[in-house]
Amino acid sequence: KKLLLVDVDCGVDDAQALMMALAAPEVQILGITCCFGNSTIEHVCRNVLRVLKVCNRMEIPVFRGVSHSLLCEKNPPFAHFGGDGLGDAGDPNSPGLVLLQKEHAVHAMIRLINEHQHQISLVALGPLTNVAMAVKLDPSIPQKIKKLFIMGGNLEGRGNRTPCAEFNFCLDPEAAYIVLNDYTCPTYIATLEFALGNKLTKDYFEKWVNQDTEKAKFMKTITMKLQQKDDFVSYDSYAVAAAIDGTIIADYLECAVNVELQGLYTRGMMVLDVSDKWKKKHKAILMKKADLEKFKQRLWAALA
Ligand code: BDR
Ligand code: CA
Repeated sequence: KKLLLVDVDCGVDDAQALMMALAAPEVQILGITCCFGNSTIEHVCRNVLRVLKVCNRMEIPVFRGVSHSLLCEKNPPFAHFGGDGLGDAGDPNSPGLVLLQKEHAVHAMIRLINEHQHQISLVALGPLTNVAMAVKLDPSIPQKIKKLFIMGGNLEGRGNRTPCAEFNFCLDPEAAYIVLNDYTCPTYIATLEFALGNKLTKDYFEKWVNQDTEKAKFMKTITMKLQQKDDFVSYDSYAVAAAIDGTIIADYLECAVNVELQGLYTRGMMVLDVSDKWKKKHKAILMKKADLEKFKQRLWAALA
């Protein structure tokens, strides 16, 4: 089986991505590490437990990670998926945080990667703070992971958090910098433009959440209060889909990347060295086009 370690800031699309991974028969999730982002770290942890509960997979260990960025920047709350990250739908039977592992997410990441050297693909779906801290505590881990998959950054300087920066990079630009420069393993990035360029229709979404399953009911509930536009974009699911099945990436660009740390307007923006000016050895693999049919099948299975 493909071994995955998934780091999340569990909002609605992280939940969708997790459910996709949980439904993939060829995948084993060794652990889920939590990071602040779509909501507070407490909500994120609780959301992951809720997802595992509805999928009947409470045996997967969940680890609490960082609650703020490396520079402890105050981030105004991001209400895209509601205050709690899962559409403020409430859940009286939500599993308690006592079910979390005692070990810190960053320590768990380092331990699991050392226990399964060259076997694990790390999938990062939130701000990159846990992932950055892991390499600073144990600089050997990039050589010990198989592949790194990131949802984050942007190709064309267009943002969803600020005019120029994508949410995950923007919430912790220093962490993104550390990850893009220290992780010299094969690194696959599902950028904002990639997700937006491969969106699904509202019609697909409606059929998807109206399947007659508990998982679909859960998804319907947590997306109820969200403003549904004409399109459906499940950002984090693209990174997970690529980790499950590499052939879902129909086209890509290999290029050295970095992140702007100082720009007054551009802090958090991903920078591409398309003409190889830096002569940086490590190039990232930027996903450009998805095999949408395969992607849709994987997403469908998440709620089936
Ligand atoms: C990313 O930001 C988060 O809100 C989503 O969960 C996704 O990881 C999209 O920019
Ligand atoms: Ca996310």
